[in-house]
Amino acid sequence: MTMIDGQMVATQIKQQIAKQVNELAELGVTPGLAVIMVGNDAASEIYVKNKQQVATDLGIEANTIKMPADTTELAIIKKIQILNADPAVDAILVQSPMPTHINEQNIQAAIDPSKDVDGFHPYNLGQLVTDANEYYPVANTPRGIMRLLKWYDVKTTGKLALVIGRSILVGKPMAAMLTNADATVITANSQTKNLDELIAIADIVVVAMGKANAIDAQKMKAGATLIDVGINRLADGTLVGDVANKNNTNLAFATPVPGGVGPMTIATLMETTVELAQQHVA
Ligand code: GUN
Repeated sequence: MTMIDGQMVATQIKQQIAKQVNELAELGVTPGLAVIMVGNDAASEIYVKNKQQVATDLGIEANTIKMPADTTELAIIKKIQILNADPAVDAILVQSPMPTHINEQNIQAAIDPSKDVDGFHPYNLGQLVTDANEYYPVANTPRGIMRLLKWYDVKTTGKLALVIGRSILVGKPMAAMLTNADATVITANSQTKNLDELIAIADIVVVAMGKANAIDAQKMKAGATLIDVGINRLADGTLVGDVANKNNTNLAFATPVPGGVGPMTIATLMETTVELAQQHVA
């Protein structure tokens, strides 16, 4: 079994991005990423800091805008409208999860689709589902997963892919991307019956449940590929994925946690930011 090295692939992608940023600099353009963070969710604080740092390292102008936990939906939307109108901003991201009084769909729909670096706007989700020919941004976690599958030459055409989870962040766009890549896709959720039977027949299993060690890798088919999207912190501080028992399986590939999908998500976020800047130049 090969453990997929997300850190290594992400490093390679970041080197590519640095080149593209240089090309834009020659045109006098600096890609701009605005991150809005509402409230002070501890995990989000770390992610947002990380995004800011990686962007800065790559020559992307990143701005983190912090808003208090009791901010109204209208105040966030007004902030987004200012960023929509700002030509220095190519990409806008509002960090999830937001406080419970905020309707995240309303926030995502307020972002200009041409600055929608998460690909969560209904227009861009429609582009994904229709497999549009023109450029559109897509969610960065599933985008990173598709990159890993390609990098390790995991075939999708004609393969049975099981996506466990149906969030807008991961599950839904993941299922659409795998469908567009000619896989036969099953999307499972918390109400799915006989999940173990599906796990036993799938060629590719993507687990995005957000629940520590919820799935047992030993139940998967020999030669299958496992993508573990979960990042869960246990009481003792250790980070674990959604899938247990990855070692000593007869899988073809599996992603570790940490060091699998996580580093890819941030690299693809930067890649999408640069693509949006390129679109705004064109
Ligand atoms: N929270 C965790 N991952 C993400 C992401 O990719 N985008 C946004 N907006 N929030 C997140």
